[in-house]
Amino acid sequence: MSVGRSIYLDHSATTPTDPRVVDVMMPYFTEHYGNPSSVHRYGRLAEQAIEDARDTLAQILNCKSSEIVFTSGGSESDNLAIRGAAWTARQSDGSRHLVISPIEHEAVRVTVEQLATVMGFEREIISVDRYGSVLVDDYTQSMRDDTSVVSIVYANNEVGTIQSIAELSTIAHERNALFHTDAVQAAGQLTLDVQKLGVDMLSISAHKFYGPKGVGALFVRDGIELTPSQSGGGHENNRRAGTHNTPSIVGMATALQIAYDEFEYHTAHYRTMRDRLIDGVLSNVPGAHLTGHPEQRLPSHASFVLDGIDGNLLLTHLDLKGVAASSGSACKTGNPEPSEVLLAMGYSEETALGSLRLTVGRQTTAEDIDYVVDVLAETVKKLAKMKIV
Ligand SMILES: Cc1ncc(COP(=O)(O)O)c(C=O)c1O
Repeated sequence: MSVGRSIYLDHSATTPTDPRVVDVMMPYFTEHYGNPSSVHRYGRLAEQAIEDARDTLAQILNCKSSEIVFTSGGSESDNLAIRGAAWTARQSDGSRHLVISPIEHEAVRVTVEQLATVMGFEREIISVDRYGSVLVDDYTQSMRDDTSVVSIVYANNEVGTIQSIAELSTIAHERNALFHTDAVQAAGQLTLDVQKLGVDMLSISAHKFYGPKGVGALFVRDGIELTPSQSGGGHENNRRAGTHNTPSIVGMATALQIAYDEFEYHTAHYRTMRDRLIDGVLSNVPGAHLTGHPEQRLPSHASFVLDGIDGNLLLTHLDLKGVAASSGSACKTGNPEPSEVLLAMGYSEETALGSLRLTVGRQTTAEDIDYVVDVLAETVKKLAKMKIV
C-alpha cells in the first residue's frame, strides 16, 4: 500500500461517520443503555430518544412519525417493503404481479426474483434507455389490474441516474398498485418529501449520508399493512421484531438532520467536485465515456466506461496509487461479471467490464480531483500498452 496520498472517492459505497454523529451516539452505549421496551427509567429514556429520532425522520420525509419503521439498513428496508406488501396483497385479493426496473439494487432485484421463483409471484422487468432512465411507455404498459407492488430506484448506485419518481408513482396509482422507491443513494442529496414524490414506501440507509452502518428506515404510508419479514416481539408496531439499536437510530436521525440542514452547502460542493472530475476525465483519459444521465444524475456521482480496460484491474492499480474507487456496485468488487446495469442500458459485455465509479464527498478537494485525473490518465495509458505488448 502506498504511503503517499490517500483519496477516497467511493462515497456511494459508504461515507465516513460525521464526528458530530459519533458524539451524539456515545452516551447511548455507555450511560443510556436501557432496553427501550423496558418500563423503568432506563428504558423510558432510550424509548424517548428513539421517538425523538422518529420525529426527526418524519419531519424530513414530510410524513407522520407512525409511518417510520426502523430497520438494519437499506437491504432490510427494501426486503420488508416488497416482500411485506406483496404477501399482504396476495393474502387479501390474490394479486401477484410485481414490476421493477432492470437497474434495481440486488436488495430489490433478488427479493423479487425469490418471490417469483420460490413463491409463485410474477415478475416483470421493464426497460431503461442508454442513460438508465425508465422508458415511461414500457413502464405504463407493464401495469396490470393485478399488479400489487412496483419498485423503482430513486437514484441508481452504479450510474447515478435519477428517475422521475413523482410521474412513475402516479402511473402505478392509476392501476391501484403500491409504489416503493429505494432512496438509499438519494438520501442526503435529493428531496425525501414523500408527499411530493407520491410514494407509498421509501427506503433509506444511514451509512450513505454520514451516519453509522447497519441502521436504516422504511417509510410506510398509513393504512398499508406489511407482513413482517422478521417476526418475534411487537416492536415497530408489529412491523419489525427486534430490540432497537438505540445508538444507531439516534445517530441516523442526527446524520439526516445535518444532511438536510446543510443541504445546499454540501450538494453545491459535490456538484463542483463532480463536474471538475467529469470534465477532467473526459478531456484527459483516452477512451473514457460518461455513463448514466448527463444532467439527471446524483450531485456526488461520476461514472464511466473505459475502452479496452478491465475495470477490476484498474481498481487495483488505482488503489496502489492511493485512490479508492469502485467498479459498479461495491458488493460486486472483485467479481469479474459485467455490470448488469450497464448491460440493461445497452452496453456490450466487453464495454460493461470496463466500468469505473468515482463518487465525491464532503472532504473531497479540487487538488484530490486533479491528482485522481492525472493518476487515472497515466494508469489507463499503461494498462492499454500492457495489452498491446
Ligand atoms: C441503491 C441501494 N439500495 C440498497 C442498498 C443496500 O443498503 P445497505 O448497505 O444499507 O443494506 C445500497 C447499498 O449500496 C444501494 O446503493
